[in-house]
Amino acid sequence: MASEPQTLDFEKIKAFVEHVFGFLSGATVSGMIYLGDRLGLYRALQGAGALTSDELARKTGLSERWVREWLRAQAGAKLLDYTGDGRFELSLEGTFVLAEENSPAFAAGGFHSLPQQFAVLEQLPQAFKTGVGLPYDAFGAEGAVGVERFLAPWFRAFLVPVALPRLDGVVSKLERGATAADVGCGAGVALIEMAKAYPKTNFHGYDISQHALSRARENQRNAGVQNVTFHDAQTDALPGDGRFDFITTFDCLHDMAHPDVVIRAIRRAIKPDGTWLIADINGKPTFEENLERNPMVAMMYSISVMSCMSSALSEPGGAGLGTLGFTEPVAREMTTAAGFTRFTRHDFENPVNAYYEVRP
Ligand SMILES: C[S@@+](CC[C@H](N)C(=O)[O-])C[C@H]1O[C@@H](n2cnc3c(N)ncnc32)[C@H](O)[C@@H]1O
Repeated sequence: MASEPQTLDFEKIKAFVEHVFGFLSGATVSGMIYLGDRLGLYRALQGAGALTSDELARKTGLSERWVREWLRAQAGAKLLDYTGDGRFELSLEGTFVLAEENSPAFAAGGFHSLPQQFAVLEQLPQAFKTGVGLPYDAFGAEGAVGVERFLAPWFRAFLVPVALPRLDGVVSKLERGATAADVGCGAGVALIEMAKAYPKTNFHGYDISQHALSRARENQRNAGVQNVTFHDAQTDALPGDGRFDFITTFDCLHDMAHPDVVIRAIRRAIKPDGTWLIADINGKPTFEENLERNPMVAMMYSISVMSCMSSALSEPGGAGLGTLGFTEPVAREMTTAAGFTRFTRHDFENPVNAYYEVRP
């Protein structure tokens, strides 16, 4: 039977075009946020009241014409308030999100490595053909700084005061003096925060990214903490002799090519009464649930293709879990398979992550 000829609904096409260009708008405004952060424009606007382009250009030492165009783009995106007479203001809320690096709501760090993230798009067509992804180091040194600045606000505001006290017996061990490791430590911000709070404990960071490790050592020097040692996990692996009282993995198991191997290594490395704190993306158990209930679903799967799944497929036989792939059921299954017997879920003031306290 011949199917009915379809009639084109021009209103629907128009709406679809607007929907598509909304993403181009997001991408271009993202580029402007990157520039505002990199050039110190948000920091110059912080607490300065309503400025003209001329005033902001003089404050930052930049060219007025370029600053004027940037300001207009920011007002169009409703990131700055236009107060009339050519004046633009960063609101108090905007300050916390775009200018104040130490605020828990700071988000501009998430735009730090935008150029590197978009640059890998050139290499991803090949990855789609071969199935092999790119490691974290493909984003270069700025990629490691970008991950650091994206995730650091939570570590600085919540890890020591909010999360650790909720874990059974961990704080008293760290206070007395213990041995702890952060696997997939990146630029080391979590470890350095813990090392400052618990000077009697020896902390060890493991990562395979040379850029992240060199940034971690630089961060350690700047913080002046002595009780942290960073290890290249490729040549100096996590020791399997049950020496660690406390192990953490923050937002990295879903990025790993072989998370099962790392989870088994953590099981061998941890003391019988030790604790492992896992932070990973709070993905829903099924794609359908993510589609319906996760407002960040499109961004999460896109980041997965550009970074997380790519990294998790960067070695032969990679698991390729991807950004939303280390869900609670997966976490329970993989930790149980490695010999862990206790599993408690926590929520620690983070809309993106779930936290699991796992014990032998
Ligand atoms: C999203 S980053 C998170 C870094 C850090 N935990 C943080 O929260 O800032 C993921 C990290 O996992 C690291 N990684 C991937 N596979 C690894 C492995 N097999 N062993 C150790 N680290 C690994 C990457 O190099 C990267 O630094």
